[in-house]
Amino acid sequence: MSDSPGFPTVRLRRLRRTESLRALVRETHLRPDMFVLPLFVVPGEGVRDEIPSMPGQFRWSVDRISEPAAEAFELGVRSVILFGVPEAKDAVGSHADNEGGMVQRALGRLAADVPDMLRMTDVCLCEYTDHGHCGVLDAHGAVRNDATLELLAAEAVSHARAGAEVIAPSDMMDGRVGAIRAALDGAGFDQLPILAYSAKYTSGYYGPFRDAADSAPAFGDRRAYQMDPPNGREALREVAADIAEGADMVMVKPALAYLDIVRRVRETTDLPLFAYNVSGEYSMVKAAAANGWIDGMRVAVENLTAIARAGADGILTYHATEVARHLQEG
Ligand code: PBG
Ligand code: ZN
Repeated sequence: MSDSPGFPTVRLRRLRRTESLRALVRETHLRPDMFVLPLFVVPGEGVRDEIPSMPGQFRWSVDRISEPAAEAFELGVRSVILFGVPEAKDAVGSHADNEGGMVQRALGRLAADVPDMLRMTDVCLCEYTDHGHCGVLDAHGAVRNDATLELLAAEAVSHARAGAEVIAPSDMMDGRVGAIRAALDGAGFDQLPILAYSAKYTSGYYGPFRDAADSAPAFGDRRAYQMDPPNGREALREVAADIAEGADMVMVKPALAYLDIVRRVRETTDLPLFAYNVSGEYSMVKAAAANGWIDGMRVAVENLTAIARAGADGILTYHATEVARHLQEG
């Protein structure tokens, strides 16, 4: 660097003069097929219920779940991740592995209607427990790690039987990737990949999701199992543990406030890396745009570009369909 010439020989603005020049030297590109669209499935029929805290996002009944999937697929988005809201909840989340559950039935519907759309499922208990925690509780209200593992494994096998093509555990129990891998293999699903929510932080950014999935904890919070936001090195231990247990892909969540983690994980693993552009990140853009304070599409594209530039191969995002349309329109 020291013997390279400086200004005025060097002028960085030369490569910014026209859109064709900028396009030629652009380092990061968004593609619709790097997006995973999250979808919420609820009981009932004919339901298309807008989520108040997430404008433009809906809760769908099984009979209509193919509508947003087909729309996204036509725009080049090739993956969805399903979240289910069950008919009934109880202390142990019994409906998580119900073969007639919302996620299980939606998988069949999507496979029939939009067969080439990759079907991922979120595996966790918080949507199914009446207390809203991600596992079963002991007498003091703490989540029991090892007792939760078998329930998560049963949920994953149930999703696999119903047609899931990627299993994504989001609970943050220790050992869940290994437990799910063993259960899937034992049930004949040794070809089914696991996308681990490896570095998942306790975050205020999940607020709108918890309205959508009706999964807010009834008491306490998730600090005793999700990661503490100030910790960075610990994320690398979480990722290493999940890889050792057989994760095929890893994830950092949330994305925007954790881009340093995305970058550090990128630098320490060659596995495909995903980041979850979570509900609160989406809602902040929508709220500011609705007030006329920002250009919502411009900021959404800037956010997704930043996540990709930090090193994510794929992005779970509620912006998937609108940004795919924007990219297509140029
Ligand atoms: C379930 C789960 C959550 C999200 C994805 N899976 C909520 C949570 O952990 O509280 C959040 C997604 C979002 O905010 O968009 N464990
Ligand atoms: Zn959970």
